[in-house]
Order: sequence, then C-alpha cells, then structure tokens
Amino acid sequence: MLTESQILVWLRENELARLEELWILADAVRRAHVGDEVHLRGLVEISNHCIRQCGYCGLRSGNRTLGRYRMTEAEVMDCVAEALRFGYGTVVMQSGEDYGIQTEWLANIIRRIKTETPLAVTLSLGERPIEDLRAWREAGADRYLLRFETSNRELYRLIHPDARGQVSDRVALLRQLRALGYETGSGVMIGIPGQTYASLAHDIDMFRTLDLDMIGVGPYIEHPETPLGRGEWRCPDPEGEPVPNTELMTYKVVALTRIVCPEANIPSTTALATLNRVQGRELGLARGANVIMPNLTPPQYRSQYEIYPAKACIQETSRAFHTDMLARIRAMGREPGRGPGGRIHGSK
Ligand code: 5AD
Repeated sequence: MLTESQILVWLRENELARLEELWILADAVRRAHVGDEVHLRGLVEISNHCIRQCGYCGLRSGNRTLGRYRMTEAEVMDCVAEALRFGYGTVVMQSGEDYGIQTEWLANIIRRIKTETPLAVTLSLGERPIEDLRAWREAGADRYLLRFETSNRELYRLIHPDARGQVSDRVALLRQLRALGYETGSGVMIGIPGQTYASLAHDIDMFRTLDLDMIGVGPYIEHPETPLGRGEWRCPDPEGEPVPNTELMTYKVVALTRIVCPEANIPSTTALATLNRVQGRELGLARGANVIMPNLTPPQYRSQYEIYPAKACIQETSRAFHTDMLARIRAMGREPGRGPGGRIHGSK
C-alpha cells in the first residue's frame, strides 16, 4: 500500500526510467483487479446551461460569448439509441448545473432508458438538491459523477464560488449519493494554478478513503473566457514549485490512482487526449485506466460544450471515433467491455 508521502515522492519523480516502474506496476494492478476489458461509456452532454461561476470552466454563467443549448427528450433518446448500436454498456448524461433540467423531465427519460434498454445510466449534473438525486435514483439511475476538483479547501472555494447561499461540500454530497445507492465517482483537475504537490498527493489519498467506484482525472486546461484563464484571480501561492498541468503529470496521477484504488473504474479522459491527440488515450489505458467515454453529443451542440478549448472530440463523428477506438483497444491486446461494467467488489 502506498502512503501519502510515498505518493508525494512519486509525483515529484521525473526520471523516466523510474517512472517506467510506476507504469508497469499500475498496469499489473489494473490487469489483476479489473482485467483487460475497456468499458465504453457513451457521453451525452444534454445541456451547457450553468448557474455556477467556476473560475476555470467555459460553461460558467458569466461566459456570455457561449451559445447555450438544452437537448430535447427525442434528441437524448437518439443518442441513447446510438450507444446501443455501438454496443456500449452505459450512457452518461452530463450538463452544467442547469435547473432548466427539471427533475421529473429527467426522471422520465431515465425510466425510459431503463425500461427500453439494458444500459446503465450515469448522471453528471453538478450539485443538485438531495430530492432531485433521490428522484433520479428511484427512476433507475445507477451512478453519479461529481469531481471534488481539489482537496485544498481554500483553493476550492476560490475557484468554485458558493451558489444559492449554500457552502459547497462535494465530499458530503458524494457520501449522500452513496447512501442513496448510487455508484459514486469523483476526481480532480491536475495543475490548477495554486495547486501544491502535497494537496495533489492528498487528493489521491482521499480517493482511497472515499472508496470511490469511479475516478476521473485530467489536466487543467486554460480557457480564455474565464477569470483563471485570464489570470484575473489570484490563487494561493503554491509555496515552491506549482504542479504542472502536463501530460506526464496526468499519467503519474492515473497510475497512482490505480495503485491506491485497484477496483475503481478509471477513464482515460478527453482532457488527456487533448494534450496528446495521437497517443493520449492509449497511454492512459496502458498506465492504469480501463474506461473510455466516447462522445455521442450531436455535432451541432458539441462545440458549444466548451468546458475548455480545443477539446479532442470536436472534429470526428461518433462512428469514426468508435471504429478507430475499437481497433486501438484490440491493437493493445485489450478488449471492449461487455455489459454495464459496474464496479466489481473484492476482485482480489
Ligand atoms: N480544464 C480541464 N478540466 C476542466 N473541467 C472543467 N473545466 C476544465 C478546464 N478548464 C473539468 C472539471 C469538471 C469536469 C466535468 O470537467 O473537473 O468536473
């Protein structure tokens, strides 16, 4: 077992020969606990409206340059049908924190997916009130994703201002989600301005203490239409070297996450692929990840779901991506996952 201080040592390691040992260990742990299957989760970005003012995210309500959309039920169900055609086991519905997504409207869609298809349903809709989360769970939703972004409270509050007069406590919300019976997922961004190595090591240790079922991590990518991207908000001084928002640092975090949470489902993320379009996804899969989230959002909306600029998924069609990804998975000696691909407890 890795202690928090050992995690910290690995985060500071820059010798590629030593890091090779980390990649090999992470890959062995991945294989032993979750096997060679790569689960494919079809991502549907159902709305880019958001009431929040997160300093890093292009969907923040203060960004007036962004055209906004909210998909219709028929549009969502078309994406669901595509997930089925491609043989995916899960559909992930994601959005900004959008109260235009009404509780009953979405509950009805969840019920339809659960009765008309064998798909698992994952939600990623921000910090909704507990009644909403309960209604969607009762409608059949299986999983919920909510990144805590950073375990440094001061930094979190700065980059993620409170809304609706409520202090945001995502760790508490994750516990409530679990109590409702959701599989719960979280994660962080890597290289947020002001992030320290020590706090990133603590983030990874928290993945373990929270016993997360799913963990998504990716590099922070500057968005010019945000206060952080424009350098307008002063972040706490990271005391010494800041964490770089690089590809290499992302691989370290993916690998360490796998080692501390052997059973978790861990995606090789789009943000990582944005830094290395040629090999990012595969290197993530080779260094601990076991999930890919192909984007199924209709083309006319895709460029508007601009969390950060130059997202890797903007150009290609869903089908082209799908065909290419299957070939890449097989070329790695891995296989596409079958079934919903939930967490399997006590794998070893
Ligand atoms: N760079 C990288 N990741 C980002 N996210 C939001 N904005 C950015 C950005 N500028 C991530 C957050 C959020 C997830 C949906 O996208 O971690 O939880």
